[in-house]
Amino acid sequence: MAEIRIRNTNERIQGEQNVKSFLEKQEVLYEHWNPGKLPAELQEKFVLSDEEKQQILSTFDSEIRDLAGRRGYRTWDIVALSDATPNLEELLKKFEQVHTHTEDEVRAITAGKGIFIIKGTDDVGYFDVELEAGDVISVPENKPHFFTLMDNRKIVAVRLFIETEGWIAHPFEDPAFQKA
Ligand SMILES: [Fe+2]
Repeated sequence: MAEIRIRNTNERIQGEQNVKSFLEKQEVLYEHWNPGKLPAELQEKFVLSDEEKQQILSTFDSEIRDLAGRRGYRTWDIVALSDATPNLEELLKKFEQVHTHTEDEVRAITAGKGIFIIKGTDDVGYFDVELEAGDVISVPENKPHFFTLMDNRKIVAVRLFIETEGWIAHPFEDPAFQKA
């Protein structure tokens, strides 16, 4: 289950209902899929062949189509990151900058872990959403955020798009943002 850390206060929010209602107030969609649907070998595999990626998409086909039907996504794919990813450090440096998109950013984690750092309402400020397998999140369009890995440095996620061009990152310069 996802957990929240509010950066200004270090307060943590745990438990599905608490996390869900916090994220709802921040206009962030949060849902949950059953990661146990994946064959065991794919629950711990972070270097994937095209066939394995397809197998993950097939496993969650009904969840993907349900979400796409409700929210208008038209294409989806799999992203896998780990220390085996060429240029992981460079990629992370690129990811770890606050930015916005004209489209929402949807990720359904199918293995591993990751964090979205999101700029919340003024009373909350930046908060971390720590995600694990089964967590599904959508950061709304135009909401400043970035993504990074957690200590285990590996993740597999389904990405869904309305238009692939909508996902281009626009840097968001924010003097109020403090790392860590
Ligand atoms: Fe993004």
